[in-house]
Amino acid sequence: MPEEFFAPISNQQTPPTYKFFDGKEWKDSTSGKTSDVISPIDASVVGKIQVVTTNEIDAVMEATYVTQRSWEATPLHQRVKIMHLAADWIRHFEEYLSSLLSREIGKTLEEAKSEIKRTADLTDYFADEVQSLRGETLDSDNFPGYDKGRIGIIERVAYGTVLAIAPFNYPVNLSASKIVSALLMGNSVVFKPPSQGAISGLHLARIFQKAGVPPGVIACVTGGGGEIGDYLVTHKRVDLITFTGSSDTGLAIAQKAGMIPLVFECGGNNPAVVMPDADMNLTAREIIKGAFSYAGQRCTAIKYVLGTKQTLEQLLGEVQKQMPEFVKMGDPRSPETKLVGPVISQDAATKIETAINDSIQAGATLVTGGKQNNSFIEPTILINVKPTMATVATEVFGPVVSFVAVSDMGQAVTIINESRFGLQASVFTKDEGAGIAFAKELNVGTVQINGSPQRGPDHFPFLGVKASGLGVQGVRYSLESMSRLRPIVLNKPQ
Ligand code: G3P
Repeated sequence: MPEEFFAPISNQQTPPTYKFFDGKEWKDSTSGKTSDVISPIDASVVGKIQVVTTNEIDAVMEATYVTQRSWEATPLHQRVKIMHLAADWIRHFEEYLSSLLSREIGKTLEEAKSEIKRTADLTDYFADEVQSLRGETLDSDNFPGYDKGRIGIIERVAYGTVLAIAPFNYPVNLSASKIVSALLMGNSVVFKPPSQGAISGLHLARIFQKAGVPPGVIACVTGGGGEIGDYLVTHKRVDLITFTGSSDTGLAIAQKAGMIPLVFECGGNNPAVVMPDADMNLTAREIIKGAFSYAGQRCTAIKYVLGTKQTLEQLLGEVQKQMPEFVKMGDPRSPETKLVGPVISQDAATKIETAINDSIQAGATLVTGGKQNNSFIEPTILINVKPTMATVATEVFGPVVSFVAVSDMGQAVTIINESRFGLQASVFTKDEGAGIAFAKELNVGTVQINGSPQRGPDHFPFLGVKASGLGVQGVRYSLESMSRLRPIVLNKPQ
């Protein structure tokens, strides 16, 4: 791929057309079809991406299948070196990638920079951590009835070809998290970036190529999920699927993929439980950050707040007091804008506004926000919301938070555990012991005490239960998820 790939965005007079990467070459698709990537900021065309054909997918799958074994046989220290180089290239292009991300998916510049920096750090951390993964040997005589006649040699090996499907909200970071862990464990990777975020994803693929990932080991195919998604997830060459996206898409993939390992991070409708003794200043700050960062388009965003009527009244006052300091909706490229740029598209904004109105019609009260303007949704707070209303019962991927009053903490536990989702929950209390005891009642992946839900630090385990996910991610856990045990038993009858 020519280096004009990284030409300053401001110099691009007409929207560039991006090729796809078949693992060896950057190509126009024989379909002759491209798809426009539209900026949610101003509806301008950021660029055009290829819509690949099923024949092209077959060729890519064959290439990654053929090269995987030699990649796995490449000494680990060489794979590690390539990943450290990739981290350096990501840092090198930080400014470029941040402004691309901001324009392509509408993240504020500050959030975009943080995604790029975090991706470089994550890549380095993966490359360091993989060196401490070990196999083991097992003795047979530990188990009743066996003598010393067997030795188990337990190795950790690659699955083969990993299909990595990334979401629009972290098209660089969540893509890299899948790709780097898969490659370090010796898998080849077919990478399907999100349609919106595809341009950022293609740049990431180019960075892995620049860093020295050999031909055929990583490919990047583009096109709408509706057009190529089913073909990819049912392809016979795919040995594992790692996917981040909505619970509905996750369920559809799981139903089609058959009996292969799946590592999924899906929707989260994360609650914050506020106990009467909580530090209201801190709680308000965390709820604002949790609900409105990247316009609420994080699987880990806070979507509803549970507390007694009196606690919620007190909290609401504090949230309203702090909102102007932390939240300002606007063009995400402007330094004035805080947390809330546009949501990913005008369609998405319309759906969010509909959910807000549905809750209001069902009896919720609008405190602030609620209005749509193109792809923008005002930061919205609703009170008097019931768990059955749209803004709590469904995952609203936008800057909307619902206050739900409960009679006691037992009712909060019931609401959380009966939810379809189970990614994270927050508990706010000055009594950390009570917080831990409460956390143990909740059927969710992670419970945060006195902090808003979040995936990081990225070496912590990250998982969802129920419709929120399958498997575990987080540096060591991702490396383990991207590899399987291979026991070889040496029999020495005595
Ligand atoms: O929505 C994707 C999920 O991974 C969120 O990550 O870092 O915003 O908590 P984070």
